[in-house]
Amino acid sequence: MGTPAEEAARRRTFAIIAHPDAGKTTLTEKLLLFGGAIQAAGAVKARGDARRARSDWMKIERDRGISVTASVMTFEHNDCIFNLLDTPGHEDFSEDTYRVLTAVDSAVMVIDGARGIQAQTRKLFEVCRLRDVPIITFVNKFDRESRDPFDLIQEIEETLALEASPASWPIGMGRDFRGCYDLLHDRLVLFDRGAGDRILPAEECHGLDDPKIDAALDPVLAAKLREDVEMARGLCQPFDRDAYLAGHRTPVFFGSALKNFGIGELLDGLERFAPSPRPQVADTRTVAPAETKVAGFVFKIQANMDPNHRDRIAFLRLCAGHFRRGMKVKHVRSAKTMAINAPVFFLARDRELAEEAFPGDIIGIPNHGSLRIGDTLTEGEDLRFLGVPSFAPEMLQRVRLEDPMRAKHLQRALIQLAEEGASQVFRPMIGSDWIVGVVGPLQFDVLSHRIAAEYDIRARFEPAPVDAARWIEADDPKVLERFVEANRSALAEDHDGALVFLSRNAWHLRQTGEDWKDIRFNAIREHR
Ligand code: G4P
Repeated sequence: MGTPAEEAARRRTFAIIAHPDAGKTTLTEKLLLFGGAIQAAGAVKARGDARRARSDWMKIERDRGISVTASVMTFEHNDCIFNLLDTPGHEDFSEDTYRVLTAVDSAVMVIDGARGIQAQTRKLFEVCRLRDVPIITFVNKFDRESRDPFDLIQEIEETLALEASPASWPIGMGRDFRGCYDLLHDRLVLFDRGAGDRILPAEECHGLDDPKIDAALDPVLAAKLREDVEMARGLCQPFDRDAYLAGHRTPVFFGSALKNFGIGELLDGLERFAPSPRPQVADTRTVAPAETKVAGFVFKIQANMDPNHRDRIAFLRLCAGHFRRGMKVKHVRSAKTMAINAPVFFLARDRELAEEAFPGDIIGIPNHGSLRIGDTLTEGEDLRFLGVPSFAPEMLQRVRLEDPMRAKHLQRALIQLAEEGASQVFRPMIGSDWIVGVVGPLQFDVLSHRIAAEYDIRARFEPAPVDAARWIEADDPKVLERFVEANRSALAEDHDGALVFLSRNAWHLRQTGEDWKDIRFNAIREHR
């Protein structure tokens, strides 16, 4: 093991962003196969027995065939350690996805070659852009009829306002897909469709005039390749690592995850270009990964994964230092010291103790509710990492209990689920019904299912006379006090005790904003 600086330098912590069906799961599996998987938090979309053995509430995931929970997979390639954070693909779970993206240093954007940029790709890309997360693009499914590569490149540039530099160039497509020309190393990488889609060893070429190209491809394909590459080199920006790191330019690889084609090039690209853990901004200063003292933040909480262990796991992204099992760290929000005796590398059915970890790594910390999203742990220093957000929910409903005697239990369940980030919960200042907020309607199904399965409470969600929620802030406490007095019937507290304005409709929100100019109505709240 090296120093934190050396260990950080060989880590690449990244996520894959994609519109559902573009091939994220397939690509993940292939990356794990290609690199020697060290740990995998459950098979990605676990199949067969592994899937059946998962905890009960994942039945929803199974029934609907979507990936609801994020997990972490670690694999090695050459001398690099890759931490791949899975993001839930379904748009209803985008809030979880946003938070996962706060814990990565770069992203791979997967695009379906026939469909191009789709709605969810664009949404996720915008989140990456907020933090200038560098992006490598993988245009997938070239073994099928796809769109013209020039067209796809133009679409990336125009719809995302992102400069695109082809890193490889496809030769044919669909049934005639023969491989790619590697523009970064001047190599021909072919695969033999006849022989079980085997990938042939790359052929080094000395430029496009190399006769190896003529020996390997039929004359029409060879001529088209030469013409395309010349045009691509003339039209597109060349790859530039600084522009990529700044989030302005993306290298574009073409391939087929299903046929294993282009995975090696993509991994090499991640290894050579993707950033190792970057300095993280905290309230008092910026923390560099090479620092010797441990510091990290919680970006995700997962509760009741396994009905036999009714505990919660906090996912901690390490930002600095050399973490060792048994270490005592400061939980900055409560100012308490915690001994981390049983940290785990991820949460498949088999949990493995994490003996040590370095910047860029993610460890799971079992706890009984003391850790929350956005919390910072340090080796004593009083600092808080910034940038883990909560978004105002887009749908709000009232919770109704079938058995009023279980109100206390329901309260506990709702608060725990909110702390985990599965939903948001608001307790109105007047009245006793809790209001639950989510980003997408499928989350209500997951919540009712979990409340029944994990807490044994029968509850249903009903429409509430609430249209939007905004976190309230003011610089002058007296103004805030007056606002609270005047708007008590529209105010609530979230699970953290933060003040929230619940508007009845768009007009109510707008009018109140105009009447109270010194109050800020925030649609995003940073966890502190
Ligand atoms: P997702 O996680 O982004 O939602 O996508 P996933 O990998 O599950 O892939 C969606 C579908 O696209 C799957 O087909 C998968 O086999 C297919 N696919 C992924 N990569 C490629 C590729 O490179 N080429 C081709 N031709 N197909 C690809 P499915 O029929 O929906 O599922 P399955 O029954 O094959 O699992």
